[in-house]
Amino acid sequence: MRAVEWMPQNRALRLIDQTRLPGESVTVDCTTVDEVVDAIVRLVVRGAPALGAVGGYGVAVAMAQAEREGWDAARLDGEVRRVRDARPTAVNLAWGADRVIPLMGEGIEAVITESDAIMAEDEAANRELSRLGADWILAHTGRDKVRVLTHCNTGFLATTAWGTALGIVRELHARGVLELVYADETRPLLQGSRLTSWELTHDGIDHVVQVDGAAASTILRGLVDVAIIGADRIARNGDTANKIGSVSVALACADAGIPFVVAAPSSTVDLSTLSGEDIPIELRDGSEVTTLAGVVTAPDGARGFNPAFDVTPSRLISAIVTEQAVVEPDGSSPIDALVATS
Ligand code: MRU
Repeated sequence: MRAVEWMPQNRALRLIDQTRLPGESVTVDCTTVDEVVDAIVRLVVRGAPALGAVGGYGVAVAMAQAEREGWDAARLDGEVRRVRDARPTAVNLAWGADRVIPLMGEGIEAVITESDAIMAEDEAANRELSRLGADWILAHTGRDKVRVLTHCNTGFLATTAWGTALGIVRELHARGVLELVYADETRPLLQGSRLTSWELTHDGIDHVVQVDGAAASTILRGLVDVAIIGADRIARNGDTANKIGSVSVALACADAGIPFVVAAPSSTVDLSTLSGEDIPIELRDGSEVTTLAGVVTAPDGARGFNPAFDVTPSRLISAIVTEQAVVEPDGSSPIDALVATS
């Protein structure tokens, strides 16, 4: 099962509908740009690496629709841009689209083949960074069995397969050195309790779900050996955007003196963004905060403030792991080692 899949028969982008989990396992097929953009905006599909693949296949959806409906080149360009820019923070979405746009002149099959390559490369990257990350964590925690805190969902649902931070968790579990996972529930849309817990339950990985507000206390009480999170964009100086609440975890780890590890494929490293200040942060509708699972939880007229991401400064990050390298950002470390140089 994959979060993102191309269906050649009907030239559709098939997505696991993550808004319906854990209650229902259903997929949706997108055959129009409107459907792709709606799926991205509503978080039917989410997570930076998964959005990278959607960036590629989304262009193929636009080309198929253009063919059916006889769009001219300007219309097609505009629709491709709508897919590319549907969410601003995860650099992978634009990265995936930009990787296939130069191939549009060669036809839809060339765009699909390149999108397939994005999928395959992402899975390979996740598996390699999971090995590197697990090695680093075991070397730096000095424990036989580690207790991990994670935030948001970074598993196979958020990627093309396996996962990033959750990939490291899976690797630690496979090596028999994982004691327990604290999964932050991740308000407002509950990616932790709905999705991470679902994945961990499926894999038989021992875990507890805690409210986001418990994370700092759990860390300061000495219940956690390492925090591992994913990333939506890693800037040239190592500053990292990830789900809102991540920086609070990093601050607590710094105070407790335990490692705070960022795990992502190199496609999430954006050397053209110089620092965290330059990362656009998606501001979502306040009603996601003033409601919970459709139930209104604030008085009439209460306004919600809903930034979807925050930026953790590199000084709070112990290690950034990609499939290329593990970098300990200290201001002088070469962040470009995280991406392939060829
Ligand atoms: O709003 P979301 O659910 O797309 O946010 C996802 C995250 O913040 C993930 O931690 C990040 O994209 C990395 S996924 C491997």
